[in-house]
Amino acid sequence: MSDLVRVTKEQDIAVITIDNPPVNALSPGVPEGIVAAVEQAEKDPSVKASVLIGAGKTFVAGADIKEFVKLTSGTRGDDIGILPLLLKVEDSRKPVVVAIHGNALGGGLEVAQACHYRVATPDAKVGQPEVNLGIIPGAGGTQRLPRLIGVERAIEMCTVGKPVRAAEAAQFGLIDRAIEGDLLAGAVAFAREVAGKPIPKTRERSDKLGTPEQNAPIFAAARDNARKKFRNQICQLAAIDAIEAATKMPFEKGCDEERRLFDKCLYSDQSKAQIHIFFAEREVPKIPDIPKETPTIPVNSIAIVGAGTMGGGIAMVCANAGIPVLLKDTDQTALDRGIGTIQKNYAMSVKRGRFTQEYVDQRMKLIKTTLNYEDFGGADMVIEAVFETMPLKKQVFADLDRVCKKGAIISSNTSTLNIDEIAATTSRPEAVIGMHFFSPANVMRLLEIVRGRKTAKDVIATCMHLSKKLGKVGVLVGNCRGFVGNRMFLPYIREAQFLVEEGAAPEAVDKALTDWGMAMGPLAVGDLGGLDVAYRIRKEYRHLEKPGARQPFVEDRLVEMGRLGQKTAAGWYKYDADRRASSDPEIPALLQKWIEESRIPQRQIPAEEIVDREVYSLVNEGARILEEGYALRAGDIDTIYVNGYGFPAYRGGPMWYADTVGLKKVYERVKQFHQQHGVLWEPAPLLKELAESGKTFANFQRVAAQATD
Ligand code: 3HC
Ligand code: NAI
Repeated sequence: MSDLVRVTKEQDIAVITIDNPPVNALSPGVPEGIVAAVEQAEKDPSVKASVLIGAGKTFVAGADIKEFVKLTSGTRGDDIGILPLLLKVEDSRKPVVVAIHGNALGGGLEVAQACHYRVATPDAKVGQPEVNLGIIPGAGGTQRLPRLIGVERAIEMCTVGKPVRAAEAAQFGLIDRAIEGDLLAGAVAFAREVAGKPIPKTRERSDKLGTPEQNAPIFAAARDNARKKFRNQICQLAAIDAIEAATKMPFEKGCDEERRLFDKCLYSDQSKAQIHIFFAEREVPKIPDIPKETPTIPVNSIAIVGAGTMGGGIAMVCANAGIPVLLKDTDQTALDRGIGTIQKNYAMSVKRGRFTQEYVDQRMKLIKTTLNYEDFGGADMVIEAVFETMPLKKQVFADLDRVCKKGAIISSNTSTLNIDEIAATTSRPEAVIGMHFFSPANVMRLLEIVRGRKTAKDVIATCMHLSKKLGKVGVLVGNCRGFVGNRMFLPYIREAQFLVEEGAAPEAVDKALTDWGMAMGPLAVGDLGGLDVAYRIRKEYRHLEKPGARQPFVEDRLVEMGRLGQKTAAGWYKYDADRRASSDPEIPALLQKWIEESRIPQRQIPAEEIVDREVYSLVNEGARILEEGYALRAGDIDTIYVNGYGFPAYRGGPMWYADTVGLKKVYERVKQFHQQHGVLWEPAPLLKELAESGKTFANFQRVAAQATD
């Protein structure tokens, strides 16, 4: 028996405990340990049945993902081989009852399916989230799950990857009993009930597999849906193929087919990219000069200044995490408008079934309003979200310095302004930090945490912890213009304008990128946020542009004629009352007129060039940010782009994607663009260096500490 699995006894029931912290993953030794324990129980005449349970916070969260990385990188040669071990568990001559708390995910749920009975705490989560890693269940899940819950539900669980609560799973047969109270005691009692009875084996069932006639339309609709919803991705279709195999082949043959499809997905670039993102997101909280043990400041109440788009969204984020919020604005009308928007957003969530009315009522009780700073004295943290102008921010921070208690964290949601300059207006710059949420704040997972020159380490550690509590992926960035995400986005949206000015239709630019995998095209994104926002930034910072840099002009003209995007129902596109976009027949004529005046030579631009110019503009700026140290790791940049900018996870983020293409190739292309389009395309020194030395962004380690200004 391995140390990872131990057996104890509750009189006539063997209790097999998996103890592989932190999440009881099926690392080498765990499946073998389970089998050895089951065999030991089988041989022990005093044992009638076994209970399989996880130690600590959870049952098994899946196969050990690190082992997959070893396989695909060639550092591990043999197969992970969980499937044959599970057959041994299923073939046990004494019943095995699995007792689930926390999570039973991926391989964890597959272990459970091979056991003879499944009991769980009502709030446990069970799921097949492999698609989030670009793979499919690989330990018999695509074969046993449809046998347990039917084809349609199995497709849903394996293609969407969203776990379900055990209480719900009990209603459709995946869980045999939800146990309130002590799980182990309940599982042992259940095991006694079933001991001595005929042992059910999932793999021998076929009652829920349906007939070919019933299944044909289900598979057709599922494939159709997967192609639309998961554009370009292979794993969802592979999962459907594997489940179809379960309905058409004997179990063993179905497992062979699952294995073939699993390998196809695992060795694909898509899965490598998604696994990279999985680990990159978990690497983000690790900050070299801020150890895990750094003390954090308790944040039990948050005050927000500004009840507009962002302030209101942030209030919802805090309330959803159970933190009381005090929302301030300058007058009652603004406050009422802010609260009205929050109520409308919550009502929409209730309508869509995301929240219950009771949940929303509780959240609304956590949000209080005020017109007075004097009420801020009790707040552990303040998040400022007033208009984006430096004089106003300075005034607000001076006021906050006056009213906030000692030890409170004072943060700004600014998207472009200098955190150090804001902090300098207070007597406590060490308490000041950027908390850059993305719009809509209650939806977008990304939070850039901006480190000022003087920000204290416990303040940073607290914000990093808080981001997780708020359900966000908090990424620590340095204080440069646009921080990381928007600094890279600026050349990206500028390049989109250049492409239009050289002859590409706006629709062609956006379509090339959405076909490639971006959630939205760059011009449609401009319309969504308001073209005037980027316009103001362009004007304000023009003096900082490189001499001789080409300036885009068409979008400025759109703004100057009042076409600001969705808010004016016209920008690059036109919009109906429901903000649905369509091509605007006025645009080609306008473009033609302006472009003729500019004498820029016009040409057909292939989609491939559009994608290269857009994505490599991100990569080139990302390389500068990495070299300058405003991002700690290439994976941090990738995390920012996947969580905040609609970059497809299956391409791994811009830096990972560049590594996948090969930096030499990317560098050659950037040099070519530099020759053709001038100074803005000057290759980043780090890109040149890594390309010429055959290295990657992923392996780039900075020697110096993170840059803060
Ligand atoms: N393998 C290896 N490491 C894992 C892991 C796994 N399956 N799941 C989590 N971890 C590690 C994380 O990398 C992290 O390590 P670190 O502390 O060194 O950074 C640590 O466990 C804690 O993870 P989280 O920070 O994510 O902890 P949370 O408490 O926030 O979340 C969780 C817990 C919901 C279980 C989340 O970790 C999760 O979603 N894990 C992945 C689940 C999954 O995708 N399972 C399927 C795996 S593939 C599979 O099973 C294939 C099979 O079909 C053969
Ligand atoms: P907004 O215009 O919707 O809201 C600003 C609110 O601040 C208004 O309700 C206004 O009445 C209030 N306000 C102004 N002065 C105030 C004061 N002295 N005291 C209290 N309240 C005051 O603006 P939005 O979009 O919410 O932006 C707020 C901040 O968030 C800006 O710094 C912006 O750059 C940043 N941001 C905006 C994003 C967006 O997409 N809208 C995304 C990320 C950050």
